[in-house]
Amino acid sequence: MVFGLTAKKLISYDLEKSSENLRENFDAFLEGLLSVPVAIPGTAYYKCLQGRKKVMRVLKNMLEERKVKPNKVKNDFFDHVLEELKQDDTVLTEEIALDLMFVLLFTSFETAAMAILVAVKLLTDNPRALKELTEEHEKILKERANPEDGLTWEEYKSMTFTFQVINETVRMANIVPAIFRKALTDIKIKDYTIPSGWVVMVSLPSVHLDPDNYKDPLNFNPWRWEGMGTKGSSKNFMGFGGGQRFCVGADFARLQMAVFLHCLVTRYRWQPIKGGETLRTPGLQFPNGFHVKFFKKDSKSG
Ligand code: HEM
Repeated sequence: MVFGLTAKKLISYDLEKSSENLRENFDAFLEGLLSVPVAIPGTAYYKCLQGRKKVMRVLKNMLEERKVKPNKVKNDFFDHVLEELKQDDTVLTEEIALDLMFVLLFTSFETAAMAILVAVKLLTDNPRALKELTEEHEKILKERANPEDGLTWEEYKSMTFTFQVINETVRMANIVPAIFRKALTDIKIKDYTIPSGWVVMVSLPSVHLDPDNYKDPLNFNPWRWEGMGTKGSSKNFMGFGGGQRFCVGADFARLQMAVFLHCLVTRYRWQPIKGGETLRTPGLQFPNGFHVKFFKKDSKSG
C-alpha cells in the first residue's frame, strides 16, 4: 500500500498497469544490501545488483520518454526533477537525477511500511498501549466540530502518546540496523584510534537495546518517552540517524505512521491470524508475514 502511494506520487507508477514489477526488484535489492559481495547468479548480492539494474532501466526509459514528450502539467516529483535538469545553473546531472529517484523510491516505502507493520504487531501484543492510543484518537474525533472532516495539523500535533508509540517502535524495530561513516582524519576515542580512511559501522541496535540507555530494553514501553522530546536524535536515539545525514524523511514517516494509526484505531479492531515472527538478515523481516483479520468497529463480521 505504501509503495503504491509513494511510487504514484514520485513517478506516476501504476502497479496494475506496469509490465515491470518494481516492488519485487526493490525487495531483491533490500535482501542483498548487506550481504557477502559475491556476484554470481543465485547469491543475494547478485540479485541485489540485478534488482537495482532493472529499476534503473525503468527510470532511464521513463526519463527518455519524458524528454521527448514532456508532461504539460507537472504530475509527479520526477517531472519537477526533469524541470530542474533543464536549468543552466543546476547541480543535477541525469545520472544524479536517476540515482535520486531510485533512493527516494526505496527509502520512502520500505522503511515506513516496515515501521507501520512493526507498530501494529507491537500494539497487538500490548493491549494497554493499544487502549491508551485508541483513547487518544477517539478523543480527537469527539472534540472535532464536524466528524466528517479530515485530520487537521493541530490534531496531529496533539498526538502526544502516538509520538511515544512511534519512537518506541522505531527504537525497537531498528529498521536501519547500521549506518556507515568514513574517518577523514585519525580519530581518537578513549584508548582507540580509528585510522584515517577507515570505514566505521555504527550499530544502532547496540545503542537502542542497551539496558544502560533503556531499562528493560526488550519491553515495548511507550511511556518511557513521557516528557522527553520525541523528535530529532540524541546519542541514545539514532533511529533516524544523526548529524549531517539525518533522515530527510523522518517527519514524513512520523506523519504517515500517525495518520495510519489514527485511521486504524478509530475505525477497526483486529485479530492476529498467523505469522508475526521476526528475523534479522540483518534487516528486519517477517518471513511468514503478519496476518490479521480486521473488523469494522461498529460490526462483528470481518
Ligand atoms: C520509520 C521510517 C524511517 C526510518 C527508521 C529511517 C531511517 C533512516 C536512517 C537511520 C538514516 C541515516 C542513514 C545514514 O546516516 O547513513 C536515513 C537516511 C535517509 N532517509 Fe530515512 N528513515 C525512514 C523513513 C524515510 C522516508 C519516508 C524517506 C523518504 C521520503 C526517507 C529518506 C531518507 C533519505 C533520502 C536518507 C539519506 C539522507 C542523507 O544521506 O543525507 N527515510 N533514514
